[in-house]
Amino acid sequence: MIREEMKTITSDELRKMYTQFFRQRDHQEISSASLLPENDPSVLFTTAGMHPLVPYLLGEKHPLGTRLVNYQKCIRTGDIDEVGDTTHLTFFEMLGNWSLGDYFKKESITMSFTFLTEILHIPMNQLAVTIFEGDDIVPKDVESKQAWISLGLNENQIFYYGRKENWWGPAGQTGPCGSDTEIFFDTGIEKCHESCGPACNCGKYIEIWNNVFLEYNKNEDGSYTKLKQKNVDTGMGLERVLAVLNQKNSVYDTDVLKPIIDKIESLTGFQYDDKTNRDYRIIADHIRAATFILGDKKGIVPSNSEQGYIVRRLIRRTIRLMKKYNISQDFFFEITELIIGMNKEIYPELMENRTFIQSQLEKEYIIFNKTIDMGLKKAEKYISNVLGADILSGEIAFKLFDTYGFPVEFTQELANEKGIRVDMNEFDEKFKEHQEKSRLGAEVKFKGGLADHSDRTTKLHTATHLLNGALRTVLGPEIFQKGSNITADRLRFDFSFGRKLTNEELEQVNFLVNKAISENIPVVCEEMSVSKAKEQGAIGVFDSKYQEKVKVYSVKGFSKEICGGPHVNNTSELKHFIILKEESSSAGVRRIKATIKD
Ligand code: ALA
Repeated sequence: MIREEMKTITSDELRKMYTQFFRQRDHQEISSASLLPENDPSVLFTTAGMHPLVPYLLGEKHPLGTRLVNYQKCIRTGDIDEVGDTTHLTFFEMLGNWSLGDYFKKESITMSFTFLTEILHIPMNQLAVTIFEGDDIVPKDVESKQAWISLGLNENQIFYYGRKENWWGPAGQTGPCGSDTEIFFDTGIEKCHESCGPACNCGKYIEIWNNVFLEYNKNEDGSYTKLKQKNVDTGMGLERVLAVLNQKNSVYDTDVLKPIIDKIESLTGFQYDDKTNRDYRIIADHIRAATFILGDKKGIVPSNSEQGYIVRRLIRRTIRLMKKYNISQDFFFEITELIIGMNKEIYPELMENRTFIQSQLEKEYIIFNKTIDMGLKKAEKYISNVLGADILSGEIAFKLFDTYGFPVEFTQELANEKGIRVDMNEFDEKFKEHQEKSRLGAEVKFKGGLADHSDRTTKLHTATHLLNGALRTVLGPEIFQKGSNITADRLRFDFSFGRKLTNEELEQVNFLVNKAISENIPVVCEEMSVSKAKEQGAIGVFDSKYQEKVKVYSVKGFSKEICGGPHVNNTSELKHFIILKEESSSAGVRRIKATIKD
């Protein structure tokens, strides 16, 4: 037990304590970036605070210097099956601090230790840490061990593990990575067996912080090269730390989630038992995640591909559970009101996008009900075909699920009413095969590697700015960027506009971009405060704090945008711009694919 005599620490307080601690140690606070990564085709969501910082970890200069701190909203879908246990969430907040080629292992470990023991008052003997044991490629991390020992940790609080446990990154197939030292809270319960340690998931150890020493780049051929600089990237799970500090059984009992659980309880009339009711936890997590994805500055609509598909799945899983507890559609309104209200100070975008969030959920509810109705008819047909037998094959149950989106629990219920059992073993097999296929698909998606900064993508990035500028000139300054995605082959740019572009408009846009290229205009990068950038008429996502410094890239006469870069030095490097396609992306959003020809 820790902090017995002490008062509860709220999420607000923890965010403040963390950022203040690092600000006092010369870190500049940066804003939580969008959940939807910009110009990064290799990842669907921001999964860690380091994602938006990749260019700076690779060596580009950050406008705020070499020490940064923030809290970052994150989505991780890899652990979705674990959601509802005591520690896993799809949406969570990560407290992070970074050294961009500044301090390294000893300083980082010392700061973490001081924060945990002196600010959060976690007793030193309740900490356990893990360290990289070394392999053929990278040697054992003795420096971290020395740092922990010098701070007073005992040998029996320190554990060595291999790559599986103590190596982090890259997030995609290529990019910054390195060994890490992970910090655990030891709950004090008995070891489950002799060799029980932080890597064991019996519940004795709870991971709270990960300090990654990003000093390598993983290359496409699988080899590692040293980065230009040695970086530190740390991440601490806000919900987990709150649970530990306030002696809660799970992350769902902390102030960022418990009010949602309470509300679900009052709406269903069934009591929540924090040990058994996984369903309430899943509903609370999924609806919170969906609210944040829909409510992001670059909010997207539920669909059948990429991020839209993930948000659709989260919503559908929620609706399925709502049906189980007879919760009506009004639930979405009530719960989103609660979530938006709870987070509006920290994440004002939720309030700004409140109508959008709620209308999308309502729409999805209606669409899913139709899907279910259709699935219901098919399921009844299949079941009537097997009447007399006592089993419905898992293959059919899977087909209903895969083709019609009809949940297997529904099939089971219908079948059971007729005295028929569903072959769940076969269903699980089919489901696993399907998951494996999706996983392979996701790996292909990751193949590009995190934030590819080749010459070609840099050129296409500058071309995107020119395209945005040209579209504003031709269609009017009210159009704004809804999304951008760049691969080595092409750029893809989504923007708000209500109708198809005419051929003349497309020709004009094409002409303007090529004009900018032929005029050999330098691409100028300046650092300034957000307020100054606004004053100068720069466009871009203003998701930074008002006084915060940002980079503004200008192509005189054509474009001025807030952007992290990188860009070419002169427009002439793009040679020739070609529009490949103009099409609809979603309601009110058009999409242009274009490329450059060397
Ligand atoms: N990027 C590191 C993590 O996500 C800190 O664990």
